[in-house]
Amino acid sequence: MSKVCGEVGDLNSGKLIHGKIFKIGFVLDFIVAISLMSMYSKCGEFGECLKLFDEMPERNVGAWNVIISGYADSGDLNFDKDMSDFVKDMQIEGLKPDVITVSSLLSLRDGDMVKRNYGRELRGFIVRNELALGSEFHLGSCLIDMYSRCNKVDVGRRVFDSMKGGNVYTWTAMINGYVKNGSLEEGLVLFQEIQVRDEVELNKASLVSVLPACSAVSGLIGVKQIHGNAIKKEFNDDVSLCNALIGIYSKCGSLDHAKQVCEHGSFHRDPISWSSMISGYGLQGKGEEAIFVYNKMLHLGNKSDMITIVGVLSACGRSGLVYEGLRIYKSTITECRIKATVEICACVVNMLGRSGQLG
Ligand SMILES: *[C@@H]1O[C@H](CO)[C@@H](O)[C@H](O)[C@H]1NC(C)=O
Ligand SMILES: *[C@@H]1O[C@H](CO)[C@@H](O)[C@H](O)[C@H]1NC(C)=O
Repeated sequence: MSKVCGEVGDLNSGKLIHGKIFKIGFVLDFIVAISLMSMYSKCGEFGECLKLFDEMPERNVGAWNVIISGYADSGDLNFDKDMSDFVKDMQIEGLKPDVITVSSLLSLRDGDMVKRNYGRELRGFIVRNELALGSEFHLGSCLIDMYSRCNKVDVGRRVFDSMKGGNVYTWTAMINGYVKNGSLEEGLVLFQEIQVRDEVELNKASLVSVLPACSAVSGLIGVKQIHGNAIKKEFNDDVSLCNALIGIYSKCGSLDHAKQVCEHGSFHRDPISWSSMISGYGLQGKGEEAIFVYNKMLHLGNKSDMITIVGVLSACGRSGLVYEGLRIYKSTITECRIKATVEICACVVNMLGRSGQLG
């Protein structure tokens, strides 16, 4: 009952149920207490959740897990506990943290995690408590991710290796870790390996995350390989994947490929798709093409925004298309009612400056 209230975020019904239970002198069992606590926590009333927790005559690991994840979500700085406090308190009550506890602890504030060197602490904790990672892929990918963020990709790799097989999330976390670390070759080796393994099914996120590595290491060929992969898996109507492809093809200098992706019928172009295409042309000094794409976007009923307007104005500036640029600027300000922000004005000034019209 109260679980339902938490899911729909209906605090009032939840409170009502809580009151009724209280009135009939119903002794809270673990399941009811935990459901009520999650309800309060999900509705942003972490204080109430904590109150219930304090009132429980006896607690289990489940109740602790609600408190820890509620604390992580609420970001309540007044409630200043850290990981080892939680773990110590649990152990005083004779309870042993489980994998859910650890993954909630992992999502505690990032800044603190780095500052207090949670990484080492956590690793020791896992060893001490004999929490074998085995097939805990969710926890594993959280750990790999955390180590990567702390610049410890090699420790992440040890976690990765300690898990047998892994799934697409652990592989993606590891590849991402290498890419962020600048170890592109290592990332690519894993990507090649993942493709020959049948048990790991590639998803959209993994394709997007390996794109930078592929283009850096093997250029256009690498990007094409992933693009082919995406088409084969019928992911090519996914907007984030298409945007990533447009961006990376432009970066590699292959605007024809970028255009092909952008014009592919079935994907829903968003402002990012348009602006990647426009700035791709702009960067190569193809101002007319950039204007063409910009007009096409307007023609299709999409509105101009800050990113696209800055993109097209810079393209005009680079290509010396001052009159076209000024015309676009004027119509944007009057027809689209976009405010002339500092960025937009800077583009116009730059454009005039380049053509010598300011002198
Ligand atoms: C990459 O990882 C190594 C080993 O974990 C680390 O020493 C190095 O600082 C990392 N570099 C970057 C740029 O994150
Ligand atoms: C862009 O235009 C298309 C086609 O008219 C429309 O379906 C889509 O919702 C528009 N997108 C935005 C971000 O306005």
